[in-house]
Amino acid sequence: MSDRVRVLFVCLGNICRSPSAEGVFRSLVDEAGLSDRVQIDSCGTGSWHIGKSPDARALEAARKRGIDISGLRARQIAESDLDEFDYVMVMDRQNLADVRDIWHQSGGTAPELFLSYGQSDHDEVPDPYYGGEDGFELVLDLIHDAGQGLLEEIRGRLR
Ligand code: 4NP
Repeated sequence: MSDRVRVLFVCLGNICRSPSAEGVFRSLVDEAGLSDRVQIDSCGTGSWHIGKSPDARALEAARKRGIDISGLRARQIAESDLDEFDYVMVMDRQNLADVRDIWHQSGGTAPELFLSYGQSDHDEVPDPYYGGEDGFELVLDLIHDAGQGLLEEIRGRLR
């Protein structure tokens, strides 16, 4: 039981998958009327894109689904994130290994594969960066599905 739950989405660059997850999950939380009780953020394990807007293809794919992620800016994960967030949702196994390294040092919330909350056959959100636009549609489908599962989990905790 808690008053508020904080959710962090993590990928490699914080310009494709995790900002998409942040936007999609925020829209699910808004629809559920829980926006004042669920805090959402995203970050990357890498530093290359710090301060950048999401990838143009991610912006467009989200926009077509009525989700505006244009205000997001990339940042890199910090040790303090594992203390500050209750759920640390990573997109793939490389992210899991990288965030586990931090967690082994600093403790706090252990990272989990985000798609473990989903119903699809996928357990990782494939990196769409070097592929075509289809990859961005798949990213949105997978994170929408897992987001619904995560929201149900969080509802139980907020009760
Ligand atoms: P993301 O995608 O981890 O979903 O943001 C990537 C973005 C950039 C790079 C790789 C993946 N990159 O190599 O620059």
